[in-house]
Amino acid sequence: MSNKPSVVMMGLGYIGLPTAALIASRGLRVTGIDIRENVVETINKGQIHIVEPDLDGLVHHVVHKGDLTATTSPVKADVYLIAVPTPFKDNHMPDLSYVLSATKSIIPVLEKGVLVILESTSPVGTTRKMEELIYTTRPELKGHIYIAYCPERVLPGNILHELQHNDRAIGGIDQASTQKAIAFYKHFVSGQLHPTNAKTAEMVKLVENASRDNQIAFANELSMICDKAEINVWEMIALANKHPRVNILNPGTGVGGHCIAVDPWFIVSEFPNESTLIKTSRERNVYKTQWVIEKVKNKALAFKIEHDRDPIIACMGLAFKPDIDDLRESPALQVADTLKKEGFKTLEVEPNLVGAVTDRQIVPANDAILHADIIVFLVAHKEFKHLPKIEHKITLDFCGNL
Ligand SMILES: NC(=O)c1ccc[n+]([C@@H]2O[C@H](COP(=O)([O-])OP(=O)(O)OC[C@H]3O[C@@H](n4cnc5c(N)ncnc54)[C@H](O)[C@@H]3O)[C@@H](O)[C@H]2O)c1
Repeated sequence: MSNKPSVVMMGLGYIGLPTAALIASRGLRVTGIDIRENVVETINKGQIHIVEPDLDGLVHHVVHKGDLTATTSPVKADVYLIAVPTPFKDNHMPDLSYVLSATKSIIPVLEKGVLVILESTSPVGTTRKMEELIYTTRPELKGHIYIAYCPERVLPGNILHELQHNDRAIGGIDQASTQKAIAFYKHFVSGQLHPTNAKTAEMVKLVENASRDNQIAFANELSMICDKAEINVWEMIALANKHPRVNILNPGTGVGGHCIAVDPWFIVSEFPNESTLIKTSRERNVYKTQWVIEKVKNKALAFKIEHDRDPIIACMGLAFKPDIDDLRESPALQVADTLKKEGFKTLEVEPNLVGAVTDRQIVPANDAILHADIIVFLVAHKEFKHLPKIEHKITLDFCGNL
């Protein structure tokens, strides 16, 4: 492999495109591959199809310099990175079809000496499956190529910084693969690169998110216990956290997004008997959203009995966590959608979607508060911290906003 290896990036989404652009900015020649033609066309114009700070400028720069080009089918390179989706199916079993199909598509162009790295969040054993797929089709490559797993742990909104500065766990199918992959990441990562094996690296990623899920489930369970005990959960947690070795997270409407709400299932599906705590945490966080919906519905029905009319309910926040516009797997959105579907009159407030192209009717926070009878805080967006004091209205706070 040359000093500046050529790179193919399979998948040009939230992870693949910033990674491809960053690598290209270090003077390595990168070819980005995506099955979506419109994505390829957009990138080749030096533009981007996702929202991520500073990415547009970087992509524009590397595309016009000729260091990043996009296309729909793989080309020969020294290093192949795979960052395609890994969703789960209806039964919570991981869907590896994207990873296997991306692997199949590079197999014909692989040559001896190349390095193949899987970055997609994957169940334990996926790198091994990828290896088997490659060697079954191209047995002559066995022992002559390097294969590794290196998970991504970036925070959307800060991807370009975290891609460079976060530590990474890198696990090869053998030691030579691990070392080869570490040498490659040194081209663009300044965080520490920790060598391990592929299976451990796969589990590390899943456990990071299962750990967050478990800690949030604990906080969510406390919120339901405290509600019954008529204790302010926020005050109680703040006081418990004064203990030098206690650090309880904040409860909320549930857990959303495409990582924490998804990845623990990859452990549960493979280790069902051993992962009861991980599974229960997932179920508690799913249940918390149902609990919130019931609470709002009960308040609305009590209002109707008292006032002989349906209340207007303001849903404050739709995103899956504070200060972002991402609605994927969002529990707040699920609350708003369920109420609407069941015939309740709702107003939807999402400060991060004001001015965005959306088929939802987004109402400014102050208007919603003025017109609503019941105000339901579902996401602790920073904009909600500065609202005027709400008086003579029913408020329900599920995210510690008040
Ligand atoms: N987005 C995040 O914040 C984040 C963080 C950590 C890990 N991950 C993981 O990284 C992986 C990628 O996530 P993402 O958010 O970038 O997904 P994404 O949906 O934004 O992008 C994936 C891209 O892969 C393309 N693709 C699908 N099949 C392909 C194939 N066979 N060949 C080439 N391209 C193909 C899709 O068209 C899409 O553009 C997932 O496993 C995800 O769990 C994501």
